[in-house]
Amino acid sequence: MRNVTKDNITDVFKSYMAEDMDPRMREVMGALVQHLHDFARDTNLTHDEWRQGIAFLEGCAAIETEDRHEFVLASDVLGLSSLVDMLHSRDDATSSSVLGPFHVSGAPQLAVGGDMKRDFGGPMLLAEGVIRDTEGNPIAGAEIDLWQTAPNGLYASQDAAQDTFSFHGLMTVGDDGRYAFTTVKPVEYTVPTDGPVGDILLACGRHPWRPSHLHYIVTAPGYRSLVTEIFPDDDPYLDQDTVFGVRDDLVMTYQTREAADFPDGMALSGKVDAPFLSVMFDVILARD
Ligand code: BEZ
Ligand code: FE
Repeated sequence: MRNVTKDNITDVFKSYMAEDMDPRMREVMGALVQHLHDFARDTNLTHDEWRQGIAFLEGCAAIETEDRHEFVLASDVLGLSSLVDMLHSRDDATSSSVLGPFHVSGAPQLAVGGDMKRDFGGPMLLAEGVIRDTEGNPIAGAEIDLWQTAPNGLYASQDAAQDTFSFHGLMTVGDDGRYAFTTVKPVEYTVPTDGPVGDILLACGRHPWRPSHLHYIVTAPGYRSLVTEIFPDDDPYLDQDTVFGVRDDLVMTYQTREAADFPDGMALSGKVDAPFLSVMFDVILARD
């Protein structure tokens, strides 16, 4: 096409794609360019604004490392990560939620009833529940990969003062599907704001806070793996999570219980002498 115009450029782009290209690639690229062109036409995007957009992408690339994923963070704060997640979430299973950049693979085994709090300060939390299938039966041998922030709001990978796997653990449940562990109540924290994503949040008048949460990746052979989070119902940022990760079924009440109610069979049984927090959260996995 020689006479490319602002009105026909989108169709011209589509006509340049080869007949025999991958059909899904054709669908996704065609829709992406359609929306990009519509966005530029609708906003009458200026050269200056286009250059700012390119500078944003270059700024993300410039700080991208093995430990810093600024493009993923951009997708998170724009709601794209959560939207993609929800498009593929199953209605009959526990909702999924964002993975985030702070998961560390290879965490040490944590026995059912184990303790992640160790000598850290802050309120003790007992988290327990059962991993079930969609009919309510326990899933024997399911695995939970757990991680969370320390009381200073930092994940182990962000904090030189913590060892590599502090507040990380891998738990394998028994025939009853039950998991249980003690930890410190996670705290709310901010996503990193010292890069281009922080600039976008600032420009949009948005805060960088996430409500406090426990992260779980739950896997079992024959079941769809689930990446999710559990939030306490009294967190001030529950209704304004900067990465849009909160779902109704992931919001739980943390009950205060007396020391005498602390269950047997835990690593800390017999050692708890003060009231503690407790959350019960069953996880439902859908079949693969
Ligand atoms: C997190 O929950 O760890 C997280 C998720 C998205 C962006 C940043 C952090
Ligand atoms: Fe997190």
